[in-house]
Amino acid sequence: MFDIVGVTILVILIVFFGFLTVRAWKAKPRWLKWVGALLSGLLTLIPAVLLILSLIGFSKLNQHYDNPIADIKVAGTAAQIARGEKLANICVSCHSPGNQLPLSGSNFATKFDFPALGTLYAPNLTPSGNIKDWTDGEVIRAIREGVHKDGRSLLIMPSAGFRNMSDEDVQALVAYLRSQPETGEPTPDNQFNLIGAIFMNLADFRTAQQPAGHVTAPQAGTPEYGEYLVDIIGCRDCHGDRLQGRVENGQPGPPAGPNLTQIVPQWTEEEFMTFFNTGMLPGGGKVPILTLKSGFSEPRMPWPVVRAVTMPGELKAMFTYLHALPFVQSPTR
Ligand code: HEC
Ligand code: HEC
Repeated sequence: MFDIVGVTILVILIVFFGFLTVRAWKAKPRWLKWVGALLSGLLTLIPAVLLILSLIGFSKLNQHYDNPIADIKVAGTAAQIARGEKLANICVSCHSPGNQLPLSGSNFATKFDFPALGTLYAPNLTPSGNIKDWTDGEVIRAIREGVHKDGRSLLIMPSAGFRNMSDEDVQALVAYLRSQPETGEPTPDNQFNLIGAIFMNLADFRTAQQPAGHVTAPQAGTPEYGEYLVDIIGCRDCHGDRLQGRVENGQPGPPAGPNLTQIVPQWTEEEFMTFFNTGMLPGGGKVPILTLKSGFSEPRMPWPVVRAVTMPGELKAMFTYLHALPFVQSPTR
């Protein structure tokens, strides 16, 4: 990724105001020399700093990751496709225009009201979309390790959580992706512009992970299996690394969820199941709806997604894990 136009404009500004600075410095009248040089010097410095920041940003965006690619062909059995379809509900809010399967891609930047950082689509993952020429190993690497076929880091993809996904589950996902009906065209190539590159110094959107290796899921029904689901569904993206809650920080990103180590230990299993089946909170009342300028809307706590992904037994395992969490102090409720 590179923004040749943006970078050229910066270079022109630097040369132009740099030239004026030198001219002013040579001026005879002392006031002109100092005021002129100071002013044009400053006007040289600003684009120079932006140029350096943007070059750092582009080097991050283009950094190459050589995580190995598994040599694997997913069988695509009916059982795999069924399991994969459940898991694919984790992907709908980003990889579909509305909020449902198939994963035909969305203009992520528009859907989530992103500032003008460049082109950012969550690509079309159906057989007529962006990954039609990717090997199964490349798709698995993209999901679990956040690395594009061409070796750069994917942006935004929640691979930090997906890295925990078992070989079995990630293969089921690929089986489902390949079984979807062909829907639409590949989305355009993602490309950050000058502003996006500079922004990378404030918020690094890269999601590349260390190689995942072989992963097996914990025994079904155990609290460890509950933790496994918490990781792959991405509860931590909104509720914090330790589920201690996050505070809104003004940067683009998912809504900040409250402290689950404080809340869920006080809930009964029945309250937990009711919440994830109906969105109804124990005290009565529902989670507020988040509506964006783009028209996209979903409950601020995406419980319908969690319900679509999990079986009742899996929800219970998640409750067992969350209910027993030790309290973590945090600035949020
Ligand atoms: C928070 C939003 C988000 C979620 C949730 C998400 N993705 Fe992504 N995904 C993205 C974005 C954005 C990109 C493009 C990143 C880029 O090009 O830098 C991407 C890229 C990908 C790619 C690489 C495709 C390509 O052509 O570059 C694959 C494969 C993928 N996602 C699979 C999945 C699967 C499977 C899931 C669900 C298990 C999922 N994603 C969930 C946002 C998301
Ligand atoms: C997209 C962000 C997001 C994700 C992903 C997410 N949450 Fe939440 N969650 C929130 C927000 C925001 C709230 C607070 C809703 C509100 O405004 O009242 C919340 C509220 C909750 C509550 C209710 C707490 C209360 O009393 O209001 C529970 C329980 C909960 N989340 C559990 C989970 C679990 C478990 C997962 C993963 C399976 C998860 N969340 C994933 C954003 C998220």
